[in-house]
Amino acid sequence: MALHVVEHPLVSKILTDLRDENTPASRFRELGRQLSYFLLIEASRGLRTKPRAIRTPLADFDGTDLGQSIVVVPILRSGLLMLQPAMDILQDISIGYIGLERDETLAARTAYYCKLPDLKDKFVVVIDPMLATGRSAELALESVSKRKPDAVVMVSILASPEGIRLLENSFPNIPIYTAAVDERLNDSKFIVPGLGDFGDRAYNTN
Ligand code: URA
Repeated sequence: MALHVVEHPLVSKILTDLRDENTPASRFRELGRQLSYFLLIEASRGLRTKPRAIRTPLADFDGTDLGQSIVVVPILRSGLLMLQPAMDILQDISIGYIGLERDETLAARTAYYCKLPDLKDKFVVVIDPMLATGRSAELALESVSKRKPDAVVMVSILASPEGIRLLENSFPNIPIYTAAVDERLNDSKFIVPGLGDFGDRAYNTN
């Protein structure tokens, strides 16, 4: 599995603002969406293309079309924040949803909702802003992988070394795209230094 840390001055600046505890929810949402564009552009670099002949107002032109369909799968609820950027730039996507609950040990996950379109031969983008323990991503990638997609990529705004290790073991062929890999998880399984609870900060809950 390849880990891709998307490096760009704007990514670093936006991520710093996202981490800042003084950033209010409305701005946090805006920044989360902005950062998602950078990540999604990189994560979709492997899309297959096909030729498309068109005519400009001046001449014939041998252009490009996408050669495969894209399915985006946000993990509820934080992943929803990354969905609008995906709809904006990944063209005619289909969308599947996976909702996962943590048990009180914070270790195990169960799916309370899983609604996926046909994934066969599709380019599937799983989005979840925080790759922490990796268990949510692992469960989501299991559901996706068994539906025989052509390619799967995992996109997270922040990742922990622990989460990356877990996915590296479980899904060595699925690349991860993230803006940064932080130091570690704390005892509550939060990413440190991190940005806190992404869902709470984005949706102004606690
Ligand atoms: N989920 C979050 O929102 N934040 C973390 O640090 C870890 C998981």
